[in-house]
Amino acid sequence: MRVLITGAGGMLGTDARAFFARHGHQVIATDQRPLEGSGSEPLNIKDYASVRAVMQEHRPDLVFHGAAMTNVDGCERDPDAAFAANALGSWCVATAAQEVGAILVAISTDFVFDGTKDGPYTEFDAPNPLSHYGASKLAGERMAMQSCARTYILRTSWLYGTHGRNFPYTIMERARTQGELFVVADQFGAPTFTRDLLATAYQIMQTPLYGVYHVCNAGRTSWHGFASEILRMAGMPDVPVHALTSEECAVKFGTPTRRPKNSVLRRYALELQHKDVIRPWEDALGEFLAAANAHDKT
Ligand SMILES: NC(=O)c1ccc[n+]([C@@H]2O[C@H](COP(=O)([O-])OP(=O)(O)OC[C@H]3O[C@@H](n4cnc5c(N)ncnc54)[C@H](OP(=O)(O)O)[C@@H]3O)[C@@H](O)[C@H]2O)c1
Repeated sequence: MRVLITGAGGMLGTDARAFFARHGHQVIATDQRPLEGSGSEPLNIKDYASVRAVMQEHRPDLVFHGAAMTNVDGCERDPDAAFAANALGSWCVATAAQEVGAILVAISTDFVFDGTKDGPYTEFDAPNPLSHYGASKLAGERMAMQSCARTYILRTSWLYGTHGRNFPYTIMERARTQGELFVVADQFGAPTFTRDLLATAYQIMQTPLYGVYHVCNAGRTSWHGFASEILRMAGMPDVPVHALTSEECAVKFGTPTRRPKNSVLRRYALELQHKDVIRPWEDALGEFLAAANAHDKT
């Protein structure tokens, strides 16, 4: 299969390139900035003519759409930029994918929900984003499904992987350099390892049941719980982790974005198909830390 990846230089995109290549597929890696290595193409997803030209040239069987404006506070400060990348960008990618008859896998987010539900969100709950990031990603979901007939939307949460900046790396770096941490304790979700998201995406792609899927590691925690577990597993259990409320966090770190207090996703579409086999977030975190450690030593 020919797989075209958008955002191939990002945290998830980098792992997606390796994942699809390892599974024997031909990978066409695209990103707005040039990437190292052969088979890569510069591509700004907001420019339909360019997206169409690249799609027509490579005629992929599958498009893995990971490109997005992911700086949540940046989206809040510049909603037009957020909608250009996340709504228009997904629209362009989906339209061009449809034109070449490709299947589309588009990655979305737990931030489409407002966090007021008492319990985990299923794919059938009504979204109500609190932020411009969430609203622009929701618009992207809708444009993708309207524009490309064979679209899987995979909503994930609290994503981390071995490439790029992410929460576990930030926590470990701050623990080493600052000796104490202040972390929000009243927002709950499910941390998700990129490798587990990709493996589950691959499993989902084996059936033609297109639509919205929630994909996150099993279990739930707060950011404070996640940080504490990272430090425990990384051998720094004595570094103090002070709990903050969302309001205290907004003041201390000057973040303009309202975030859902509960963004735990239930993988209900997978459950209904008896295919919900993803492991608990703690097990995934252990594998991530071992991989990150091995990466540091090379
Ligand atoms: N990280 C999370 O916690 C999380 C949680 C839920 C869902 N997601 C979703 O998962 C997906 C992957 O996230 P990630 O964390 O891997 O993000 P990432 O590391 O920021 O990667 C996104 C990539 O897309 C590129 N990009 C941005 N605008 C573009 C444009 N106009 N044209 C082409 N490429 C563009 C970025 O380039 P630059 O680096 O130059 O901007 C970057 O390489 C995104 O759809 C995100 O919304 C992420």
